[in-house]
Amino acid sequence: MAMIVGGIATTHVPSIGKAIAEQKQRGPYWQPFFKGFDYVHNWLARIRPDIAVVFYNDHGLNFFLDKLPTFAVGAANEYRSEDEGWGIPVSRPIAGDAALSWHLINALVADEFDVTTCQEMLIDHAVTIPMALIWPGPAQPIKIVPIEINTVQHPLPSLSRCLKLGQAVGRALESYQHNLRVVIVGTGGLSHQLDGTRAGFINKEFDALCLDKLIAEPETLARISIHDLVKQSGTQGVEFLNWMAMRGALTGRVSELHRNYHIPISNTAAATVVYNNQTDLQQKAA
Ligand code: DHB
Ligand code: FE
Repeated sequence: MAMIVGGIATTHVPSIGKAIAEQKQRGPYWQPFFKGFDYVHNWLARIRPDIAVVFYNDHGLNFFLDKLPTFAVGAANEYRSEDEGWGIPVSRPIAGDAALSWHLINALVADEFDVTTCQEMLIDHAVTIPMALIWPGPAQPIKIVPIEINTVQHPLPSLSRCLKLGQAVGRALESYQHNLRVVIVGTGGLSHQLDGTRAGFINKEFDALCLDKLIAEPETLARISIHDLVKQSGTQGVEFLNWMAMRGALTGRVSELHRNYHIPISNTAAATVVYNNQTDLQQKAA
């Protein structure tokens, strides 16, 4: 049975890739952001997950506006990236676990989440940047199941629907017969807007509300409409949908172990959190 050990969420701003390539992590601009990952690395060294289920949004590398699934699940044994034009190095491929992916896909469809199955899937900066932050080094020592959520072209799924998607993924993981330690990752956010007259918009108060409520009251946040979410967090701040799905997949008692919030990285309110997931299974194992 797979054990969901916890969750991590982080911003995926592409310029982070440039900072890593140029080794600027400890420079004055970047240090307040990167120092938030010391905790993540120490926690992972203790928790030792085998696999990461990653909720993210594709920005036009694998899907484009002509065909953009609301929810898509990778079912490959390897995920490549490609140059997206950000001027950052292309990441090495990341290993997948097609058997677990197919288990999740079967369980999700049986649970009435009719996801798109992708036996080939390019991963963009919304996967590669968080992976490089969470598992630094040239190659990641972990397998992934990437789950795409449309945060790009309206109509977007609601916060409530993404919470339920996460909950369905959590149930599906716990019905997997193999002993795996799983960490759930959500990427993007928090508040930011890259386009239009509000470009550069950041909303510190709303971000604080999201960070506070996500731990024990995700249902309160789930009542916010997509249009209000855009208003409060910006056109790209809706990437918080990925965080909501991550939270949904944590099936046990959830507590916050770590939070880092820093304004701005590029145009974005940069946030990183680590959540513990205390399940009955973990309690028995302890
Ligand atoms: C930025 C943020 C994003 O979420 C993204 O996908 C691209 C760029 C930014 O702030 O620069
Ligand atoms: Fe983004």
